[in-house]
Amino acid sequence: MKVFAWNTWFETGIEHIDAQHQKLVEMINTLGTCEIESQDDQINLQNLYTTLFDYAHQHFADEEKLMAEFAVDSGHTIKHRKEHAEFAREVTLMAKTHSENPRADFEMLYRYLISWLGFHILGTDHAMTRQVMRIRSGMSPEDALRQELNSQDHGLSAMQDALFNLYEVVTEQNKQLHQQNSALETQVNERMQALEVANAYLLKNQQELQVLNQQLKLAQNQVLQSEKMAAIGQLAAGVAHEINNPIGFVSSNLGTLKTYTERLLMVLNAYTQMEPLIPPGEELASLRAIKQTVELDFLQQDVVDLLLESREGLDRVTKIIQDLKDFSHVNEAEWIDTDLNQGLDSTLNVVWNEVKYKAKIIKEYGDIPEINCLASQINQVFLNLIVNASHAIEESGTITLRTQLKDGFIVVEVADSGMGIPPEIRHRIFEPFFTTKPIGKGTGLGLSLSYDIVKKHGGHIDVSSEPGVGTSFKVWLPLHREGVLA
Ligand SMILES: Nc1ncnc2c1ncn2[C@@H]1O[C@H](COP(=O)(O)OP(=O)(O)O)[C@@H](O)[C@H]1O
Ligand SMILES: [Mg+2]
Repeated sequence: MKVFAWNTWFETGIEHIDAQHQKLVEMINTLGTCEIESQDDQINLQNLYTTLFDYAHQHFADEEKLMAEFAVDSGHTIKHRKEHAEFAREVTLMAKTHSENPRADFEMLYRYLISWLGFHILGTDHAMTRQVMRIRSGMSPEDALRQELNSQDHGLSAMQDALFNLYEVVTEQNKQLHQQNSALETQVNERMQALEVANAYLLKNQQELQVLNQQLKLAQNQVLQSEKMAAIGQLAAGVAHEINNPIGFVSSNLGTLKTYTERLLMVLNAYTQMEPLIPPGEELASLRAIKQTVELDFLQQDVVDLLLESREGLDRVTKIIQDLKDFSHVNEAEWIDTDLNQGLDSTLNVVWNEVKYKAKIIKEYGDIPEINCLASQINQVFLNLIVNASHAIEESGTITLRTQLKDGFIVVEVADSGMGIPPEIRHRIFEPFFTTKPIGKGTGLGLSLSYDIVKKHGGHIDVSSEPGVGTSFKVWLPLHREGVLA
């Protein structure tokens, strides 16, 4: 870059002023050799500028002090001070400018510095020192100024004024540019802020939509699940109803059959008692042969046993049908007074097939009053808990069903000796769709549905679990539902 070549004609003759000028020129020339490659260089450069301005400030102050000391005429001092002030303002502005091209910004500033300094020293500073010299040799400040103005080459001084004007124009334009720039920046910032707000709003909307979607999915699944339950209930009730009729007449026929058989056996006995009256011969022999072939003695005993067994079987079928009916409560999707011990029993019978190979059932039923509830849904809760307990048992274990009345609540506990729930997932088990089971075995809906059902009854579910030892779920149902909408 071009450098400021110091020359004797820059000298004013006042030593400390000349020394300061030279120092300024040196500093500016050092700046000229700087390279700007990186952000760090820019910061270094900024520091160099700061030092330069501080020095220039000091120097201006010294010059102004000199003028005051010699009472240089205001016709000069006002103009001189104005040049200092303009310079300070302009350089401060330029140093603050950061465009896309820092190299160009720097060059502009650098060129401004050397040209201004040259113009200022040669013109204004020299005029000042000439007046100071004259005043020092006894002339009055007014005369010193007058002589200065008279001795000036008119063309040169007009050019100087024009140049100073030009600097003023540059400064003014620069100022306006700066103002426009910062107005633009403010606008851009405002737009950015508006955009950010809009963005945040959009994001929030999206999150809300996601939550809604999740809720919708859950509701869909719950509807599906409860429809499935209702369908199963209806099916069970239908089957129970259909079986009821044949079981009815089979049962009644079996009763009649028992009576008839008893009568037939009575007759047979009577005949057997008459047997000795038959004279020995062919008839007697053939009679005994028949009795032997059909094993009459065995038959007589077995027919009674068979009838007893059939009666037992029939009783079992009747009991299963009753359980199915109890479990489905298909005609009772309403709040009814229910015995929960009975509810547990009928639910257990429905899932018996799932449980019987793995778990020994221990019943510890307390003496509890009936409770007003949605019986089929409460049974569904018991079913979920018992099935989960059975799933938690790998080979064999126990499931304890416990009921009790406590603090105005009926507490139904389903405890197992299964694998337990790891602490890190315990807070998630009531989440819809959370399952640790393979596809096909778990849907992750059992506990979330149970939670909702129990909440609908104004109750809550407690869990305690120890990995490797077992898990206990306690369903708390208030005897009196206050403020709970049915
Ligand atoms: N008695 C239990 N023992 C151990 N873990 C259990 C028990 N009950 C529930 N869990 C855990 O909670 C999860 C969620 O249960 P649930 O909502 O019934 O869904 P699913 O049984 O379909 O997985 C299960 O996958 C299991 O990890
Ligand atoms: Mg389950």
